[in-house]
Amino acid sequence: MLREAWHRRQADAVSWRQQKTDCFRVFHGSSEGVPGLCLDRYGSLALLQVFRPLVLDLDWDVLERWCQENLGVAQLVVWQRRTGQSPQLLYPESAPEPVWVQEMGQTFKVEAHHRGQDPHLFLDLRCARRYLRHHCQKARVLNLFSYTCAAGIAAEAGGASQVMNVDFSQAALRRGEENAEANGCKRQHFCCEEVYPILWQLAGRPLPARARKRPQTRRVPARQYDLVFLDPPALAKGFFGSVDVKNDYQSLFKPCIELLAPGGRIVACNNLAGVSEEEFRSTLERCALKAGRPTERIRRLLPESDFPALDSDPPLKVLVCEFASAIRGGGGPPRGPAPKE
Ligand SMILES: C[S@@+](CC[C@H](N)C(=O)[O-])C[C@H]1O[C@@H](n2cnc3c(N)ncnc32)[C@H](O)[C@@H]1O
Repeated sequence: MLREAWHRRQADAVSWRQQKTDCFRVFHGSSEGVPGLCLDRYGSLALLQVFRPLVLDLDWDVLERWCQENLGVAQLVVWQRRTGQSPQLLYPESAPEPVWVQEMGQTFKVEAHHRGQDPHLFLDLRCARRYLRHHCQKARVLNLFSYTCAAGIAAEAGGASQVMNVDFSQAALRRGEENAEANGCKRQHFCCEEVYPILWQLAGRPLPARARKRPQTRRVPARQYDLVFLDPPALAKGFFGSVDVKNDYQSLFKPCIELLAPGGRIVACNNLAGVSEEEFRSTLERCALKAGRPTERIRRLLPESDFPALDSDPPLKVLVCEFASAIRGGGGPPRGPAPKE
């Protein structure tokens, strides 16, 4: 099955090489015959992730040789990730040092040691990064839940005039800074804080009274952005409220609408399998309508061909939202130009 999957990707492999991309999914188990198994190439590493008890008897040395011969990698790393258990490194005994990978000519540092499901670069979001590389000319970009800032860096390659990356993880932002430096970025800014208080302030709303109990909360002036990239985790708790993309995407989306400059766009992501595209789309439409700035057009970006889907609705939903220019009350976005950095 692995051989067949790799065979199916031969034409893509040529274009990835031409596009200076050496990180991609080699085998997407859920739709290619072995649910719970994924193999990715990250530059000189092959990363196999096992999410369920294996029905196959795999010999890691044999698999590593196959990866070396076919993918041109130096090493295989195998992680077992079973629900309710802490991740376990199955092969080799200790994970190798971080490596730099290339995507569309940009470089990102990835780490096979990393205990999360991605080694600091989500491959399925390449579709969104490609979009940003083509739609950010002179745009002021707000990258929310920025993680290692790959989307922000793609936006700068697309001509963004400034990018604000917001994430509450200092470690993720540090990696983002390293990535930005490696790509010669000059227009990236980093804000280590929860997304809610930053969003509210940018949208010109006051901070809630409870902010007094947290004097270290970052203060930022209200300002507008031309493009917001919004990619929250499914569920996360914070001092200022929970992120819950199933039941309350609106709490994030509404202030994004409020701070959007005329003609601006929001690229909204939702990676929860339990929410269909239709459901997500109508949540966004209803929220925009209530905020007084109805959507004019919503189009979906599908994960690229290395993430084949069983049906037309893969779990990752990336919706590009454009809004009617007329603001019909309700939203109350701050007016005037964005203050200078
Ligand atoms: C799904 S990852 C985002 C991936 C990212 N957009 C990318 O392009 O690779 C989720 C990120 O949200 C951050 N996060 C979770 N809850 C947060 C919150 N309330 N405020 C700020 N960051 C948060 C985590 O630290 C993590 O980096």
